[in-house]
Amino acid sequence: MIKQSIKNLLVAVLIAPLFSFAAIAAEKHAAEKDNPTYSVTKDGTVDWSTFNGFRVYSASCIHCHGPDGMGSTIGPSLTEALKDMSYKDFFKITSEGKKTDSATRQAVMPAFGKDPNIKCYIDDIYVYLKARSDDAIPRGRPEKKAPKTDAWKTEKETCLSAK
Ligand code: HEC
Repeated sequence: MIKQSIKNLLVAVLIAPLFSFAAIAAEKHAAEKDNPTYSVTKDGTVDWSTFNGFRVYSASCIHCHGPDGMGSTIGPSLTEALKDMSYKDFFKITSEGKKTDSATRQAVMPAFGKDPNIKCYIDDIYVYLKARSDDAIPRGRPEKKAPKTDAWKTEKETCLSAK
């Protein structure tokens, strides 16, 4: 009996670091991109990452940050914010959240770092908003998009499978 629980404990101690290592590796992977960028061709075709960023933004951020990243009464404009926010800071705030609690203003930005459906796409959201911020793409759903690249697929699969 005791032997069995010691064995279980040992297994847990040996295995746990493997999982957290995978999680750290995935996070590092996304965070390590120091400056992901969008690309838009002359005819207005956006790269897949930018297009996907539009989709994820529209599913998870739009209700507080407004259509096209332009801000609402709840959340600030992210197209403005990105004029001088680095990817590193964007990644950190989106992962860890942000809170202002002063006499004049209360605001809560939720932390999304534990939600794989957002965590794994922070770079996509960033490049989409950056393209909006630079006025490289118009408001609304990008009409033309390049297909997914293998590199994009592999990166997302790795991130989504890391628990
Ligand atoms: C429930 C509402 C809500 C949702 C959903 C939300 N945000 Fe926020 N966000 C806020 C608020 C409120 C602030 C301002 C926080 C403050 O000033 O302390 C904020 C601030 C931010 C900032 C910092 C802006 C700045 O100027 O410093 C970033 C970046 C950001 N949000 C990104 C995102 C992204 C990306 C998503 C979607 C994945 C998202 N937010 C979803 C409410 C939200």
